Amino acid sequence: MTDAIISDIHANWEALSKVFEDIDRRGIESVLCLGDVVGYGPDPDRCLDLVRRRCAVYLMGNHEEALLRAPIGFYSLAREALAWTRTRLFGPWWKPWRAIRYRRILNDLPRLAHRPDCLLVHGSPRDPTSEYLLPRDFLLADPDVIAELFTFEEPVCFTGHTHMPCVFTEGRNVYPSGEDGMEVRIEGEKLIINVGSVGQPRDRDPRACYVEFTGDRVIYHRIPYDLAATQQKIAANGLDHRLAERLGYGV
Ligand SMILES: [Fe+2]
Repeated sequence: MTDAIISDIHANWEALSKVFEDIDRRGIESVLCLGDVVGYGPDPDRCLDLVRRRCAVYLMGNHEEALLRAPIGFYSLAREALAWTRTRLFGPWWKPWRAIRYRRILNDLPRLAHRPDCLLVHGSPRDPTSEYLLPRDFLLADPDVIAELFTFEEPVCFTGHTHMPCVFTEGRNVYPSGEDGMEVRIEGEKLIINVGSVGQPRDRDPRACYVEFTGDRVIYHRIPYDLAATQQKIAANGLDHRLAERLGYGV
């Protein structure tokens, strides 16, 4: 069976709906989400509802966690966007059932998912929600850190969180990925594969990014979407203009 794996939607409805259109066009029935459905963008409720309805797996991201607890380590732009998201999801006060429902959904999210053919996390295999696995840190890491990262049993671990599509190998190589149509074969050594970001890519390609997983192959897809519409909504909702600008640059 083929799965689509999506991550880091960040409340970008235009990007998410286009990605689902592409998934449906390809006839992929199973969709797995690695978290960060909310935060930064203007449509947290719509995105959350669609992910809940369509995804067989929905993992806790650090932005979901920060909605439930006081955010630690978030810079001011992310903190302000989280405060706005909290009001949007948990308010208004005269609709308490809405807040209860969203809180329950977020509270119950798992931090990782094991399948025979893959491990799914948001951050890294050793810290599933919070650790940023960046190419430079990986290349400079001590051998015991690399060994710790690859202690999982499955042939491949899928991750998101950094919004930078790339592939880490057990033999300590890193190569950038995320080009449309790029294929990665799962054979031999274990891999950690970052699937990129649907709603806020940071690899200087503003198109939405997701992967298709066939069991022995991973294929990256890049999907153009109505970026201007998302940018307008960010402005209309009083969110910081830098959140709109960065989408245009893919950073
Ligand atoms: Fe994220």
